[in-house]
Amino acid sequence: MTDRYAPTAYAADRAADLMDAPRRTGAAAPAEPPRDAEAAVPEYLRDTYTWAYLSRFGTRFFDKPLVVSTILWGNARRLIRSVAAEMKPGWRVLQPACVYGDFSLRVADAVGPDGRLDVCDIAPIQVALTRRKLAGVRQASVRREDAAAPGKGPYDAVACFFLLHEVPEEYKRAIVDNMLAAVHDGGTVVFVDYHRPVGWHPLKPIMSVVFDRLEPFAKALWANEIRDYASAPDAFTWEKTTYFGGLYQKVVARRLG
Ligand SMILES: C[S@@+](CC[C@H](N)C(=O)[O-])C[C@H]1O[C@@H](n2cnc3c(N)ncnc32)[C@H](O)[C@@H]1O
Repeated sequence: MTDRYAPTAYAADRAADLMDAPRRTGAAAPAEPPRDAEAAVPEYLRDTYTWAYLSRFGTRFFDKPLVVSTILWGNARRLIRSVAAEMKPGWRVLQPACVYGDFSLRVADAVGPDGRLDVCDIAPIQVALTRRKLAGVRQASVRREDAAAPGKGPYDAVACFFLLHEVPEEYKRAIVDNMLAAVHDGGTVVFVDYHRPVGWHPLKPIMSVVFDRLEPFAKALWANEIRDYASAPDAFTWEKTTYFGGLYQKVVARRLG
């Protein structure tokens, strides 16, 4: 991992706690997190995605199922259902990054009250938002954690939804390896993300411009298989399903053993 994109200090945990004002209590969240909070998120996230994930505007505008569905061209429900279908009641599941809309609620429903869903995110504002969203869901908890940091698990499953296309290549490799390392023998790792659409896809030119302008790390998933980011792929079985003319993919890796 290069220095430029190396994860920095975790002072922002404090910010997430300060911002964690559960709706039920009616407590007011501070208008803005302390200034050191956003400084602790990786540079690629600040440089590229402040508008989407770190700004008040972004969190207010995007965190709605209808907006998520529009961004995914009407495929959100189908893709979320396809992840939930891989989960079993009672499972312990890691979700390595927050997702706008009701993704975490659907996964929490799938594991049920006897399961556990650990949602993590590197951005304090996202941790605070998701804690509020999952308040009252007893099997779910949210914490600040870098998906690229090792030492997770063991879990029965991982649900990694549209994270890889947003991170630089060295982060993709670290995240894929860490997600795979987080499950025990027989465990399941699900990645849902962008994929190279078929040549005739009417949205291909539009998505190409969107990626070139706004999402510079995404097109790598048009060229590379997710499996190829793993340093020990042979320890898993791999199954890839594509959706919507190939624009999206679900890759399920199951640890042998
Ligand atoms: C899962 S991705 C995108 C999901 C999807 N586009 C949506 O609708 O929300 C977005 C999240 O990834 C988080 N993120 C980015 N890099 C991360 C990292 N290294 N570790 C953990 N979370 C990360 C961002 O803070 C953001 O909340």
